[in-house]
Amino acid sequence: MKMWSGRFRQPLDPAFERWQRSFEFDRRLLAHELAASSAHARALKGAGIVDSNELITILQGLERIGEQAALSPAFLEDDEAEDVHHFVEKQLVTLIGDVGYKLHSGRSRNEQIATDLRLYVRAAIDQVRADLATLGGVLLDRAQQAGNAAMPAYTHLQRAEPVLVSHWLLAYVEMFLRDAGRLVDCRTRLNVCPLGSGAVAGATLPLDRRVMATDLNFDQPTANSVDATCDRDFVLEFVNVLSLLALHFSRWAEEMILFSSQEYSFVRLPEAYSTGSSAMPQKKNPDLLELTRGKCARLIGDATTLQICMKGLPLAYNKDLQETQEPLFDATETVLSLLPLVTGWMKAVEFNYEAMQKAAQSGFMNAWAAATYLVQRGVPFRLAHEQIGKAVQLCLEKHCELQYLSLEELHSVNSKFDHDFYTCLKLESVLAIHDVAGGTAPGRVRQAMADARQRIESIREDVHAHA
Ligand code: ARG
Repeated sequence: MKMWSGRFRQPLDPAFERWQRSFEFDRRLLAHELAASSAHARALKGAGIVDSNELITILQGLERIGEQAALSPAFLEDDEAEDVHHFVEKQLVTLIGDVGYKLHSGRSRNEQIATDLRLYVRAAIDQVRADLATLGGVLLDRAQQAGNAAMPAYTHLQRAEPVLVSHWLLAYVEMFLRDAGRLVDCRTRLNVCPLGSGAVAGATLPLDRRVMATDLNFDQPTANSVDATCDRDFVLEFVNVLSLLALHFSRWAEEMILFSSQEYSFVRLPEAYSTGSSAMPQKKNPDLLELTRGKCARLIGDATTLQICMKGLPLAYNKDLQETQEPLFDATETVLSLLPLVTGWMKAVEFNYEAMQKAAQSGFMNAWAAATYLVQRGVPFRLAHEQIGKAVQLCLEKHCELQYLSLEELHSVNSKFDHDFYTCLKLESVLAIHDVAGGTAPGRVRQAMADARQRIESIREDVHAHA
């Protein structure tokens, strides 16, 4: 039986009927639909609409539906179900008879879908945060293993200054920690319960909204029924956060692709995550990285679809809202499938520390340190900059690095140079002078790694507490 056929005299056009259904994709919400329905059933008992026996029958029926779905995917093959809400009602009536029809008293699918989606996003947030903590942990392990290995840091994709490999890896940890933080913000805002909002104006029965909210681990009921039945801000927020996370993945992937090219040779692609060429026998291609970069487009597409879908929708519920589901599912599933793969890749990748170290020692990346040497001897920085620039010029003519200029040659630029200048040009000294919080001096990086470890641990604990 349909949920609304009474006032209709003609059947639906069969093609339209099939086309407007959402069960094909909203079956993902089944577990949440069952949980929300149980909370509603208990509220119906509180309102005197069902008695204790009926409540038990309904709750057992709902539980049974969950069990059957878990047992066999075929159970979900239903050509009649319009959506997950209809499916549950149909199955419930099959299992427990007409008392099943009592479940829909005083509620609307508009509040149900709003509730199911909040539960779905909340669970997805917890999963993404757990996976981000795992990825962060692996990045930190790799940073730890890198010890004091150095590499060039680039600005404008030109060699700029040497940094510790660990410092570079920690940059990604920061991005992912920010993503995890944004997810918490989103979770805090979404954790209110629409149940009891009805179709638009509020439930027509005296349902205890606070109890329903608590039942489902929401912090409180939503404040306004018009807003609650058509708000999808939390979906947009979540998918936007995911699109930013995907953008971080994309930058990571791009950098790893560059670094794995023979031109850099900093990174050896793990075979387990690469493929070959059907034509060129020598090839090993960075497929995981390229697909990761490509998925970012898809995530931005999902986020954009959602914004355009919501733009201009009058209050309150409109069927357009059904179209917010697939971009949400796509974004969620894409990110959740990506995260363990990126983590696996990070675990397996080999760094060519030798090539990195070698690159860290050429290209005048000690020039700023050289200018700092003069600054510490009283030379105004602008003049020191100019003079080291001249020294670099001299090196370019001689095809050498700053440390190969003789004191005599250096004195032609500034008489303050002394023997200790050569020590300050060494890679270790250049790294060591960046001795500020957040800088690449080894002691600072060690501290940063310990801090990051703690922040990752607290994500783990928090996710665990919600589980
Ligand atoms: N499948 C619908 C959706 O996803 C459920 C809500 C239907 N509400 C309605 N008034 N037709 O939005």
